[in-house]
Amino acid sequence: MSAVLAPPASPLGRPLIDAAFRADPYPVYAALREAGPIHWSDEFFGGAWLLTRHADVEAVLRDAAGFSAQRTGGWVMQNRAARGELKDFQRLFARAMLFVDAPDHTRIRGVLNAGFRNDVLQQFVPAIEQRVDALLDAVDADAGFDFMQALARPLPAEVMAMLMDIPAADRGDFIAWSDDLAAFIGAPVPSLDQARRARTSLLAMSAYFEQLVPQRRHAPGDDLVSRLLRAEAAGDIGAGPELLAQCAMLLFAGHETTRNLLGNGLQALLADPASWQRLQREPELLPGALRELLRFDSPVQYTGRRVVADLVLHGRQLRRGDLVVPLIASANRDPARYAEPDRLDVARRGGGLLSFGAGAHVCIGASLTLMEAEIVFGRLLRRLPGLRLVDAQPCWSGNAVYRGLSALQVRH
Ligand code: HEM
Repeated sequence: MSAVLAPPASPLGRPLIDAAFRADPYPVYAALREAGPIHWSDEFFGGAWLLTRHADVEAVLRDAAGFSAQRTGGWVMQNRAARGELKDFQRLFARAMLFVDAPDHTRIRGVLNAGFRNDVLQQFVPAIEQRVDALLDAVDADAGFDFMQALARPLPAEVMAMLMDIPAADRGDFIAWSDDLAAFIGAPVPSLDQARRARTSLLAMSAYFEQLVPQRRHAPGDDLVSRLLRAEAAGDIGAGPELLAQCAMLLFAGHETTRNLLGNGLQALLADPASWQRLQREPELLPGALRELLRFDSPVQYTGRRVVADLVLHGRQLRRGDLVVPLIASANRDPARYAEPDRLDVARRGGGLLSFGAGAHVCIGASLTLMEAEIVFGRLLRRLPGLRLVDAQPCWSGNAVYRGLSALQVRH
């Protein structure tokens, strides 16, 4: 009789998530990829299957029938002591379309897609250009400045405020609420304190939109909140929690990630002056270079799915309900997909980028983010061609999912 062996708690025989991983996760991803395509790890959400290769990450993200996006339950409620107190958080959080499967997902996504069409986004270009110029006018580049504080943090929150037609002056609250949600989502095992703070902030976001809704019903426009309200009136979006959850999620998803594309992207370019100079000589490379920056240091490092029915993958038995973690950032450095994956190549072509996800839940804000980033990097390259890094070591925030910098000191 052969014994059934429990999978090892850590695939590399040592903890995966430590200070070194938080500063530079790529050596760990490389070791995991070399060790195999799938590993069990106790460190992610109390136990999950990690997928390391591009082909598998893409296949799972595209297989909405086999892998469910509904995954917030165990995640929020793993803190037994606080289950009662977190129930209202879980109820709202689980309604955001990121965590909803078809047919509800298809219905909600259908309503919001129209708000992210290119012709709609193009209308915001002049206002975004103006804000970027104003934020850059305010820095003393010769003395040196913190790019995160001066531009990467405030800008994306302001742009989401434009799309939702809410006062940009409230951006301080939006950023603080989003930081609490990001700390919770980004913790492989969230602490009770992180869960409590995320609850308080999500409920505050929801209350913010709850007081806005009657005014907006009275005077609707073309913004995303008005679109949701029109869909509610037509019966395409549920009133109350379903509507409020989409508003809160849009506000959150729209800037944490863009902030980190701007910060990680500038850090990578300035750390490799040849790339920075090449973009000055060949600005037409910029749109492709943005995709390369997203590949090279993905602002979203991994996501999650739940197994819908028992299956065997690469010889491992996955059970219904098991959590699967597609490691997007590992897939982006898979040598089977990209030649010299650890090299930043601003002229790289070839597609396959997984930083925005893939399949039904592929990022709805991808075009918006690329548009914003093109404006920001275009202006930096023109206005501050001699920009350089001040700190020898980047100040990574340490968030495992939302990889980004807490500060980026630069000078001209
Ligand atoms: C660099 C910037 C961004 C990155 C790297 C990024 C990344 C992602 C990824 C990986 C997903 C899929 C997650 C999954 O399948 O589990 C996603 C979905 C999503 N993103 Fe983004 N995102 C960015 C910017 C934005 C912006 C600007 C918005 C603006 C509203 C946004 C809103 C969303 C929403 C609502 C979803 C859920 C879509 C759905 O479930 O159908 N994101 N994003």
